[in-house]
This record gives sequence, C-alpha cells and structure tokens, in this order.
Amino acid sequence: MDIGILGTGIVGRTLGSGFAAREHHVRMGSRDPSSQAVTEWVRLAGPSASAGTFTEAAAFGAVIVLATLWSGTRNAIALARPGSFAGKIIIDATNPLRFAAGSLPELEIGFSDSGGEQIQRWLPEARVVKAFNTVGAAHMVDPRFPGGPPDLLICGDDDDAKRTVSGLAQELGWPTLDLGGIDAARLLEPLAMTWIRYGITTGTWNHAFRLLRK
Ligand SMILES: NC(=O)c1ccc[n+]([C@@H]2O[C@H](COP(=O)([O-])OP(=O)(O)OC[C@H]3O[C@@H](n4cnc5c(N)ncnc54)[C@H](OP(=O)(O)O)[C@@H]3O)[C@@H](O)[C@H]2O)c1
Repeated sequence: MDIGILGTGIVGRTLGSGFAAREHHVRMGSRDPSSQAVTEWVRLAGPSASAGTFTEAAAFGAVIVLATLWSGTRNAIALARPGSFAGKIIIDATNPLRFAAGSLPELEIGFSDSGGEQIQRWLPEARVVKAFNTVGAAHMVDPRFPGGPPDLLICGDDDDAKRTVSGLAQELGWPTLDLGGIDAARLLEPLAMTWIRYGITTGTWNHAFRLLRK
C-alpha cells in the first residue's frame, strides 16, 4: 500500500520503518523534509521509503498515519490540506496530551470527547481509525512479550477501514481488538494515560495490554 506518515517523531519513524520493511511504499511528511533526521530515516528505511512535505505525504498515502504532537496536529492537517484526506483511511496514533512543568501529563480534551472524534470532525470525509495510541513506540513493531503478543485496541466508524488497519497491524505483529465506533477513542485515550501513568510510577516502559479470555 501507499502509506503517508505525518510527523517524524519516534512514532512516525517506527511505524514508517515497520511498513517500509514490509514493502509498503511509505512517504514521511515533515515541516522540514530535508532535515538530517528525515534524510537519515529515508536512508535507513530503504528503497520503498521517501520524504516530503505534509501535503506531499498526505497526497501520497491511501492510508495516512497521524503521528503528530497533539498540539501540532491541527496545524499538520492544515499544512497537509484537509482535502488530501477525503475518502482515505487515517490511522490516528495521537494522544491529546497536555504537558505542564512539574506535573503529570493530562488529557487535554478530557473524557466526554476525544482526540479521535475531534480528528474525525475536522476531516469528515476521511475514515479515521484510532490505533497504536495505547502502545509504546519501542514495541510498535514486532512486539515480543513473554505472555505472547499483546492486543492492539482500535476503533473507528468505518468497518472496511478497520479491516485494512487490522491487516496492517497484523503485519507488524499485532492482533487487534475492535471496540466499535470512533466514540470509543474516549476509552482508548484514557487507556493510554494508564499506560503512561504506569510507566511514570514504575520507571519502566516495557508493558503492553492484553485481554485475557477463556
Ligand atoms: N512516543 C510514544 O511512545 C507514543 C506512543 C503512542 C502514542 N504516541 C502519540 O503519538 C504522537 C507522536 O508522538 P512522538 O513521540 O512520535 O512525537 P512528538 O515528538 O510528539 O512529535 C511528532 C511530530 O509532530 C510534529 N509537530 C510538532 N509540532 C507541530 C506543529 N506545531 N505543527 C505541525 N506538526 C508538528 C513534528 O513533525 P515535524 O517536526 O517533522 O514537522 C514532530 O516530529 C503523539 O500524539 C503521542 O502522544 C506516542
């Protein structure tokens, strides 16, 4: 598939490299596509990787990964031009975090709305699937845990889009659990806070969620 990635932080680079290694065509979008970090990522990610502006990455992808700092997400979408997203599958990996010196991060939007729903409202013609927000970047590709693979919780309003995202996640080593419509982002974003809070409390970052069933 052609996959555009918005955001060149650890999440964008990790997912981008994972997809490129599985021979998807990946274009990384950045405000500064000629930066050393981006150029180096393209070199390391191999022949199916390239970089461009946010507009170019969004235009390129049939699937577009939003991997931006929450406070820059609306700007990234504006720079990419909202029309570039029409009809496309958006993987929303963001968490709407608010950072303040000396205190724990908080959910900027709270609990009666969510970043996933906000993005779907900003891009009504796109098919937003919330995914990868409840896992650490270090384990986004080929997660290996003693108890077997963890679960990737996803949600979104479009079933076809979720099937495509589940297939992509499976290629990266993730079984998925579908929680329903994009309104379930109200659950997945606090779950990410649980993941973050456990990391801060224990000083460890090698944990992931799995639903046990019998
Ligand atoms: N880190 C994790 O383990 C993890 C796990 C799950 C979810 N998340 C979420 O995934 C997202 C990405 O996290 P990250 O740690 O990879 O990266 P990050 O450092 O939060 O930033 C990612 C990218 O956002 C873009 N950005 C920042 N400010 C912007 C602005 N004003 N306008 C437009 N773009 C802007 C930048 O792209 P350019 O500089 O290239 O333009 C930057 O590379 C966040 O929402 C985070 O909460 C993170």
